[in-house]
Amino acid sequence: MADLIAPSILSADFARLGEEVDNVLKAGADIVHFDVMDNHFVPNLTIGPLVCDALRKHGVTAPIDVHLMIEPVDRIIPDFAKAGASYITFHPEASRHIDRSLQMIRDLGCKSGLVFNPATPLSYLEHVLDKVDMILLMSVNPGFGGQSFLPSALPKLRQARQIIDDSGFDIRLEIDGGVNTSNIREIKAAGADTFVAGSAIFGKPDYKAVIDEMRAEMAKA
Ligand code: DX5
Ligand code: ZN
Repeated sequence: MADLIAPSILSADFARLGEEVDNVLKAGADIVHFDVMDNHFVPNLTIGPLVCDALRKHGVTAPIDVHLMIEPVDRIIPDFAKAGASYITFHPEASRHIDRSLQMIRDLGCKSGLVFNPATPLSYLEHVLDKVDMILLMSVNPGFGGQSFLPSALPKLRQARQIIDDSGFDIRLEIDGGVNTSNIREIKAAGADTFVAGSAIFGKPDYKAVIDEMRAEMAKA
């Protein structure tokens, strides 16, 4: 499975969001990571389906990877599907009926995923692995960009990689939080294939230089 770089637009300049997304895709990014926060499930408030729709109308054709950090999820999933989301992932703690929410995402034509906070066990996957297109491991506690990578994510990545490989299903393994050019090599070696990076990319003036360096580091893993 090809490695994908997924810049988190949480760290982009929201006043120039369309241009920022164009620039980061031009710089070699593969997918757009779209962080949705509700000031309830996480202590921060961001963007919703209207902004996703606006990016599509602006002309963004790359996959949009919607990471829901909201509770509940079922009411808003159809809105994101309509707004052009490609992936929709949610935290198991945020849905009363995880199987139903995953199925709803697929029925609406999107790819589904479950997100695991640092303290959330992977056992939630046990009975729904056939309904999951993406497993997203948080390597920070969600809510803010610019936090440090928690090393406990590395053994958890290896555990998730084993689960995916043993299952035989086509499931992406995404990592989110504190990813940068210095640690992306060991993160890839631990089994990730999809790499979210917010501040590490948008915090630098030259997005292409950062993405090129990330790919060079991954090639050494
Ligand atoms: C955190 C979000 C992340 C965040 C990552 O709750 O889910 O996607 O933007 O930002 P960095 O890469 O700066 O840790
Ligand atoms: Zn995220």
